[in-house]
Amino acid sequence: MKRRNFVKSAAATGAGLLILPGGIHAAKGVQDKLNIALIGAHGRGSQHYRSLESENVVAICDVHAGNMALAAKQYPNAKQYIDWRKCLEQKDIDAVLIATPDHHHAFISIWAMNRGLHVFCEKPLGECVGEAREVRKVYLANKDKLATQHGTQRHAHENFDRVSELVRMGAIGDLQEVQAWGNRTHDKTAYLPSAGPAPNDIDWEQWIGPVQMHPFNPGYFGARPGAGCLLWNMYHDFGSWQVGDMGSHTMDLAWNAIDAGLPTSVVASGDPYNKEVCPSDLHNTFSFPANDWRGEISVEWFQGTLKPKTPHPAIDISKIGHGAMFKGTKGALIADFRTRMLVPAREGADMTYYDSPGSNEVAPPHGNFVGQWINACKGDLKTSCDFDYAGRMIETLMLGLVAHRAGKELKYDSAAGRVTNDSKANDYLHKKYRKGWVLNG
Ligand SMILES: NC(=O)c1ccc[n+]([C@@H]2O[C@H](COP(=O)([O-])OP(=O)(O)OC[C@H]3O[C@@H](n4cnc5c(N)ncnc54)[C@H](O)[C@@H]3O)[C@@H](O)[C@H]2O)c1
Repeated sequence: MKRRNFVKSAAATGAGLLILPGGIHAAKGVQDKLNIALIGAHGRGSQHYRSLESENVVAICDVHAGNMALAAKQYPNAKQYIDWRKCLEQKDIDAVLIATPDHHHAFISIWAMNRGLHVFCEKPLGECVGEAREVRKVYLANKDKLATQHGTQRHAHENFDRVSELVRMGAIGDLQEVQAWGNRTHDKTAYLPSAGPAPNDIDWEQWIGPVQMHPFNPGYFGARPGAGCLLWNMYHDFGSWQVGDMGSHTMDLAWNAIDAGLPTSVVASGDPYNKEVCPSDLHNTFSFPANDWRGEISVEWFQGTLKPKTPHPAIDISKIGHGAMFKGTKGALIADFRTRMLVPAREGADMTYYDSPGSNEVAPPHGNFVGQWINACKGDLKTSCDFDYAGRMIETLMLGLVAHRAGKELKYDSAAGRVTNDSKANDYLHKKYRKGWVLNG
């Protein structure tokens, strides 16, 4: 497919028709309100209250009584649950928005889809390769019935599509390498120590849910709404640190442009492996096969103090906290979430080769990101970050942690979901869950 045609068809048939602000497409049920269950009802969940104003939130679920009380002020008529499995049994629910800690995401997403519910799930979609694959598999089996959206809301910034158009239409020549990075660091070395039993207002058993039991510590709680995740997501059983945190957003900036399936190999370096906490410094290099508009490419993820090399001495990459860079035969493109710069760095890069898009060829604005999902639930089910797109991206990122643990380059059979050159590494693709917890339930 020629690049220009690709962009045209994406603009004409993609979410643009669906996502015009105000939901003006005339799909059946568009005037009806959705009945939504909000699971993880405060913290990041509270940052979704505004986007859900047009709908009915009929159920709220939270393990923390104080957070439940705050959510109940917003939704006084919603039924209240501590256990999300009970919440999903409520008969009038159409859709679920999940904003719990990461280690529940794949479970709740799968259980909800299995019960015929549309799902918006905060990032990351899963905590390991196996979870990301299972969510994607269940979604693909239901994609004609269900709308899904992964909580990478920066995807709605116009810059994401402008970057994609520049790359796909050849502004840097033929794409060869991609780098994405994020600069957050942590200094933890082990799970927090026991601090006695959890207070009565926190259901610790339910907070832990499917993963291995760890002692309660108040240090996992108490940040401002939306920053709570930074108190627990570096611990292996609760998160994947920046791989799944800002990595979900930053790799999305690259993922939107590269049209990738799954990698064939991955290698890692960074901090030494620690069985309790994720590495603060991490570097992964993935190989992706060619597709119909580009050749084989390498995709790198840099985390913590590690950064890619600048394509020009005047550009200080360390000044861009979270960014992506695309290198091609004719130059480089550097982007953060809202801006981009083109560096036609090589001789002969006179830009005459670049046939820029006309104003009618650029992808239309996405509108409100949660609104796009709400419209999709009532319409043609299309969203920009569905669980196929996001599932492949999160599977890739989680495979990076597997290579870090294995300490060697891994060859990956993406059809089978197996590492082919290190049988032990296959054990690292999945998590072990506590008795009674089933991922695909
Ligand atoms: N898209 C974004 O920009 C963005 C920003 C911040 C956080 N997040 C994501 O949102 C999620 C929540 O992050 P946070 O910072 O709000 O964390 P948090 O620790 O504050 O938890 C969020 C809420 O979930 C509740 N909760 C915990 N365990 C639960 C369970 N088992 N069932 C139901 N409710 C439960 C908590 O009591 C709290 O009210 C994370 O996955 C994080 O990655 C996304």
